[in-house]
Amino acid sequence: MNLKTTMNLSPIRVGLLGLGTVGSGTFNVLRRNQEEIRRRAGRGIEITMVADLDMARAQALVGEDVQVVDDARLVVASPDIDIVIELIGGYGIAKALVLEAIESGKHVVTANKALLAVHGTEIFAAAQRKGVMVAFEAAVAGGIPIIKALREGLSANSIQWIAGIINGTTNFILSEMRDKGLDFAAVLQQAQRLGYAEADPTFDIQGVDAAHKATLMSAIAFGIPVQFDKAYVEGITGLAAQDIRYAEQLGYRIKLLGITKRVAGGIELRVHPSLIPAKRLLANVEGAMNAVVVHGDAVGTTLYYGKGAGSEPTASAVIADLVDITRLHTADPGHRVPHLAFQPDAMSDLAIVPMSDIVTSYYLRLKVADEAGVLASVTGILASLGISIDAVLQREADEVGGEGSTQTDLVILTHDCVEARMNDALAQMQALATVLAPITRIRKEELA
Ligand code: HSE
Repeated sequence: MNLKTTMNLSPIRVGLLGLGTVGSGTFNVLRRNQEEIRRRAGRGIEITMVADLDMARAQALVGEDVQVVDDARLVVASPDIDIVIELIGGYGIAKALVLEAIESGKHVVTANKALLAVHGTEIFAAAQRKGVMVAFEAAVAGGIPIIKALREGLSANSIQWIAGIINGTTNFILSEMRDKGLDFAAVLQQAQRLGYAEADPTFDIQGVDAAHKATLMSAIAFGIPVQFDKAYVEGITGLAAQDIRYAEQLGYRIKLLGITKRVAGGIELRVHPSLIPAKRLLANVEGAMNAVVVHGDAVGTTLYYGKGAGSEPTASAVIADLVDITRLHTADPGHRVPHLAFQPDAMSDLAIVPMSDIVTSYYLRLKVADEAGVLASVTGILASLGISIDAVLQREADEVGGEGSTQTDLVILTHDCVEARMNDALAQMQALATVLAPITRIRKEELA
């Protein structure tokens, strides 16, 4: 079919489930850029049906030409809809609707990382059986086209590792903690007041949202099934302002990173706060911005930066998926880009390695009695386990605890060691009578 004939086709018809922030952004950008989008896709893309519980508000937003319903099932079942955009979120009704859309032969675009990270295997298998596409660019890092980059742009590479700042809320909180010297709880309250953090920010601050996204990146980078249940997840709730300050003095910044890495024993998949050298580009990603570093064996290190959330940035990713589907829906399913980048019958069974087996370096902060022999006993434990020290920082006791204080902070950076061994060292150091509070341990990534 030549371009002229294609451009004469009637628009592809899209049903939108959920006209919230991203849904209305999608509607607005599609309308504003409709001509350019049509020239790219080869035919128009029109939202013809919207499901939203607040029908009056939705109708006012989309105008009289679009059918608005309050029951999403009507959209999913409609014979007049070719593509369903799911922007409801969560694992409940969204899962049922996505599976019903697939069963009725519709292609699906979703921003729902939680759904795909947990139920992706079932959803992609259903889509495969029905010969439809489930596209999810908007599910990871909002407007940054990281799925496209990993799945297509980097397909020559054996991907070695990915490290990303993939949650804007926590990056905003960490940036504020560093700028203003405030503790986590104070900044969280401020972020909620300003509307940056959700009223219930649990998934963000506990690292769950970032782990959903890391799980999806891991699957498409290494051709493994989505395995959120095997991801290690640690959030930022335990971070203290003094750790951010000490890290800074040692030349590092603390970021919540989603990391997935190819190692001898399989694949690492983990989300936790990490010290990274202040000179790395990733360390300078501030506020609510997202960034992902991908290291491939051929290309080396590449960096993707942009807005990880918000109405039109996320809409940008949703619409890119609509364009892809519009171009490819008539293609033989075997000629499309596989959901998880690798052909379904060529997936890898590489295991996610347990956290005790990962190898990394560490930042340790110990509140200790300021007396002779304390440093020697702590470093003696590390030495006895073969853990090499990279740097030590000890503050004057007066500086830490006020004049006449008999306690001080001992901060240690180690070289790489296996996590199980560090756990042993931590248990032994914690048992010392001169260690006066729970030891803070933050992992450190050089990202070299
Ligand atoms: N809550 C997410 C964030 C945005 O703070 O980055 C959507 O994934």
